[in-house]
Amino acid sequence: MARLDVIEKFHGISFPGHLHNKDSMQFALKFPFQDTDILIVSYPKSGTTWMQEIVALITNRGDPHLIQTVPNWTRAPWLEHHYAAAVLEASSITPRVITTHLYHHLLAPALHGSKAKVIYVSRNPKDVAVSFYHYHKMANFLPGPGTFSEFLNQFLEGTLCFGSWFDHVKDWSSQTATMNNLLHVTYEEMWLDIRGTIKRLSSFLQCPLVEDEINNCVKHSSFSSMKDNKMINHTLIPPEIVDHSKSSFMRKGKIGDWKNMFTEEQNQHFQNVFKSLMQNCPLEFVWEAQ
Ligand code: A3P
Repeated sequence: MARLDVIEKFHGISFPGHLHNKDSMQFALKFPFQDTDILIVSYPKSGTTWMQEIVALITNRGDPHLIQTVPNWTRAPWLEHHYAAAVLEASSITPRVITTHLYHHLLAPALHGSKAKVIYVSRNPKDVAVSFYHYHKMANFLPGPGTFSEFLNQFLEGTLCFGSWFDHVKDWSSQTATMNNLLHVTYEEMWLDIRGTIKRLSSFLQCPLVEDEINNCVKHSSFSSMKDNKMINHTLIPPEIVDHSKSSFMRKGKIGDWKNMFTEEQNQHFQNVFKSLMQNCPLEFVWEAQ
């Protein structure tokens, strides 16, 4: 069997060849967005799937039918994945929900002039690194992670697949002042106040909800509901692609899990790199002090 962890490089950034190729990248970069589209953007492991679930629930007024019957890669396909063109062509789901891990500067020409609503999700990078490390262990289409220390160095150097977390966050954050169709939501806000976040999102998406509908959104987007949902928990993906004996996709769903993984020295080094790379970031993050 062909190795799954072939890496493709586009615009200087590594991507897993199992899901990306030159044509799929071209498709994404030239995508004709519609004004009614909803685009979910994130660096991997930032709460992308959680946001896909919440958006699908909000646009369906809390009804879980869609999230329980259609896999997330079909109902909110990643624009840069090789199957996206076919999925979007065949889909009749409205509004169209699309996901991407691409940087803003790559998508800027396609998004230019569009009124598509963009939701950018970010998470404490220390928790992202830990979650991504465990995901590399189970995802055979990504390179083996090595030790956590080796993996963390690659995360800080920005050499992992999907590029640098720091560049990704800075790239999209720099748009918040000028793009009025962009909403930035953090994983931590979702975790600490899911009801408030759902209300904020429903208002941004112009999908007003009554109290019962909000209750249903909260219920069906909880970690425990999602953990059992085959449409997102990766159990539909064959074991040669995702090996559930190594970790699980819905792993812990906590904030601050990095404290169980980082040594004092790693934390200090991380803080120094964060301080130096994020000094020009226009946004301050609530989790910085954690
Ligand atoms: P952990 O590995 O820390 O558990 P993404 O969808 O961007 O790949 O992010 C996956 C991370 O989001 C995983 O983090 C997963 O457990 C977490 N997650 C997904 N749904 C969640 C939910 N409803 N509540 C809390 N965390 C959730």
